[in-house]
Amino acid sequence: MKDAQPRTIYLKDYQAPDYWIDTTHLTFDLYEDHALVTAVLQMRLNDDIGCGGALPALVLHGEELDLVSLHRDGEELESDQFQLAKGTLTLPVEQPRFQLQIVTRIRPQENTSLEGLYKSNGMFCTQCEAEGFRKITYYLDRPDVMSVFTTKVIASQARYPVLLANGNAIDQGELENDRHYVTWEDPFKKPSYLFALVAGDLECVEDHFTTMSGRDVTLRIFTESHNIHKCDHAMVSLKKSMKWDEEVYGREYDLDIFMIVAVDHFNMGAMENKGLNIFNSSCVLASPETATDATYQRIEAIVAHEYFHNWSGNRVTCRDWFQLSLKEGFTVFRDAEFSADMNSRGVKRIQDASLLRTAQFAEDAGPMAHPIRPESFIEISNFYTLTVYEKGCEVVRMIHTLLGADQFRKGTDLYFERHDGEAATCEDFVKAMEDASGVDLTQFRNWYSQAGTPVITVTDRYEADTGDYHLTIAQSCPATPGQEHKQPFHIPVGLALLDEQGELLPLNAEGIHAEGDKEKVLSIKQTEETFVFKGCKSKPLPSLLRNFSAPVRVRYDYSKDDLVFLMKHDTDSFNRWDACQRLGVMAIEQLVEQSEQAVDPQLVDAFGAVIADPELDFAVKAEMLCLPSEASLAEQAEVIKPLAIVAARKKVKQAIAEAHSEALLALYNELSYERDYRPEATDIAERTLKNVCLGYLAAEDDAECLQRLAEQYNDASNMTDRRAALGCVVDARHRDERLVERVLTDFYDRYKDDANVMDDWFAVQSSSAELGTVEKVKALMQHDSFDPTSPNKLRALIGGFTRNMTHFHTAGGAGYEFLADRVIELDKQNPQVASRVMMPLTRWKKFEPAASGLMKKALQRIKAVHDLSTDVYEVVNKSL
Ligand code: PHE
Ligand code: ZN
Repeated sequence: MKDAQPRTIYLKDYQAPDYWIDTTHLTFDLYEDHALVTAVLQMRLNDDIGCGGALPALVLHGEELDLVSLHRDGEELESDQFQLAKGTLTLPVEQPRFQLQIVTRIRPQENTSLEGLYKSNGMFCTQCEAEGFRKITYYLDRPDVMSVFTTKVIASQARYPVLLANGNAIDQGELENDRHYVTWEDPFKKPSYLFALVAGDLECVEDHFTTMSGRDVTLRIFTESHNIHKCDHAMVSLKKSMKWDEEVYGREYDLDIFMIVAVDHFNMGAMENKGLNIFNSSCVLASPETATDATYQRIEAIVAHEYFHNWSGNRVTCRDWFQLSLKEGFTVFRDAEFSADMNSRGVKRIQDASLLRTAQFAEDAGPMAHPIRPESFIEISNFYTLTVYEKGCEVVRMIHTLLGADQFRKGTDLYFERHDGEAATCEDFVKAMEDASGVDLTQFRNWYSQAGTPVITVTDRYEADTGDYHLTIAQSCPATPGQEHKQPFHIPVGLALLDEQGELLPLNAEGIHAEGDKEKVLSIKQTEETFVFKGCKSKPLPSLLRNFSAPVRVRYDYSKDDLVFLMKHDTDSFNRWDACQRLGVMAIEQLVEQSEQAVDPQLVDAFGAVIADPELDFAVKAEMLCLPSEASLAEQAEVIKPLAIVAARKKVKQAIAEAHSEALLALYNELSYERDYRPEATDIAERTLKNVCLGYLAAEDDAECLQRLAEQYNDASNMTDRRAALGCVVDARHRDERLVERVLTDFYDRYKDDANVMDDWFAVQSSSAELGTVEKVKALMQHDSFDPTSPNKLRALIGGFTRNMTHFHTAGGAGYEFLADRVIELDKQNPQVASRVMMPLTRWKKFEPAASGLMKKALQRIKAVHDLSTDVYEVVNKSL
């Protein structure tokens, strides 16, 4: 178990290890009630450590292990020759080079934390990032210790015909008593967090890829046999990723085989283990009947993400976990650009910016706020955050913007060349970018060390007599825990100026390179900077932060007319969409404050114009027609009033639906035609827009609309359309309860054997304003198809419920109490999931008093529990 008072670990205390592990030979003997792990380690003193004569004792990490035996250079050590303490094994060292043989017994069958070696649906699998390897054997479980691994897996042939580990298979054979073995060798040095092993009764699809230097790579995706027909999309995505990484980054795959295994029980999305990626089955398996367009795109992105880690993460890894964003921010940037190239670039940018502004901005404004390179943590698992991943991606994107694509590529080439085979730091990355491009990134480094979302406040003034337009950009950043005052950031601000006809003006101002361009990225470094643009015939309208050029908030006093103008004329898809969002936020906020008001007619008209616009591409149109989400409205509110937000948003949606019902129906009909399912950008855009229309049509109060929903639900030839109709039916419950029950039952009957689809069946109910009461969620927890040991099910049901503004925030606090009970219960079983599902409570300070006090009370109840995991302990203590 963990310490009573968990310790904080600081980046400033980093020290290189005393010893290296040159080679690691592992043997796993897998049985039905335990596993025996034999580790043979070639140890070597780190010469850089001054030790003044005596060799330092060796301190290995280890958790929940039974030590069976310990040999040093062939000699068994007795129990008085080493010390076992909580989390460590300490032994004296006599030679600068020595061999250790460690035998441990572990119990994968009882491992519910899903870290280390565990069982999922009868198969053995591992998850070692960040610190799971220490649950397998005693080791230097830190990413700067890189070793060459050989892994022998021994198990029952009948139960576990497939035995996998990292690298290439070099030996296999049969043993007595139905047992067999396979030995795998990974020639590349790697840290323990990239180790993986799988043993199971699995099938695979196989394909091949010829690399740019002409090598043949075998590609295999493994899954349980009943899902084998759902691997094709992941395979196609993998081949596209391999090709893209060669073309865009010059990176070639380096082993003879690349494997992906789908598992049902997994704490995260997927894991980039060298040559053997392990995936949450929800991020691999797809068929048109069971996966939505969004799932298809998510699979493509995650397969790419994990594959790209082979270079950004594995060949060059992280020195310590404070550097996590080195691999994650960069790899998210790589997968985002890949997805943009494969699909609609504009829409990808809108979706990513929207996620960042909704969820990462909220994180930055909450009690767990941290820089993309945190300075301290108690539990590293709590730092796999939107900040490290998504904001980290934005930071890399800003470097790309400031350097330009060519210099950026020179920078990545230099980074990979310099640090191949090493454990590097964020500083190494920035330095390579600087050295390759000559661009000074000194001030830019503040993005790595300072938390919080910067705000840029833009003011302007037009002088009619001279034609000068003065644009002033001021920046500031709110305080975050432990960081009262911030240094100014280096911010790239994309800019264009629109004239009265909506044309882009040439940008003529001092201090701007390439004068006369109509679009420009300003490189802002001061607390306040002013630009004077010459030759403007009338006051221009600024288009600011184009393409979301930096992860900041923009304050500019746009009138509603300005926003409507930008929605129509801006050439930047992101800003066109953003204008729409801003108008939506204004209209909804008005109603939140004064609910008896009428819905802003200007907004209703503007949405009408978007619906009717014949030039707008379908994908962007669909995004523009989505009102700001409840979560995004909450993030932007001064004080969150959950029920008022829900009501106001609904009222606005209804007003748009009523005013434009004919146009919406016409568009819906135009887009409703039979075709074969293809997960291609153009088809996806049409389906998305069609289903956005359906959502509006469903907001209308008539029988015809219910009829339409039922029809789309019944006749759908793919999951995207069926799932969209299901969502609308559930939302329409107050008009026809029997229809809702019928459709939910039908959905259950169709998909009850598909675990991933059933996740959604739970989520659609628990997140529904109509259905998802505390009582309903409690009842669903007892449902036969609910598996309380499955993180996917927990996230679907409980996560869905915490997103349900109506019922999670129900008066009296029953929703909060329910969540606190689940967190306390789950913490014993799976601390990572417990700590994640409790996040919504940590935002308590932003809620209106009635809610806020009750949320705090629920947190206090969690805090009072003895023996909390470090995961939950850290979150609850930082948020109170
Ligand atoms: N490293 C994984 C990724 O980004 C995420 C992960 C972290 C998975 C920790 C499991 C545990 O792809
Ligand atoms: Zn990653």
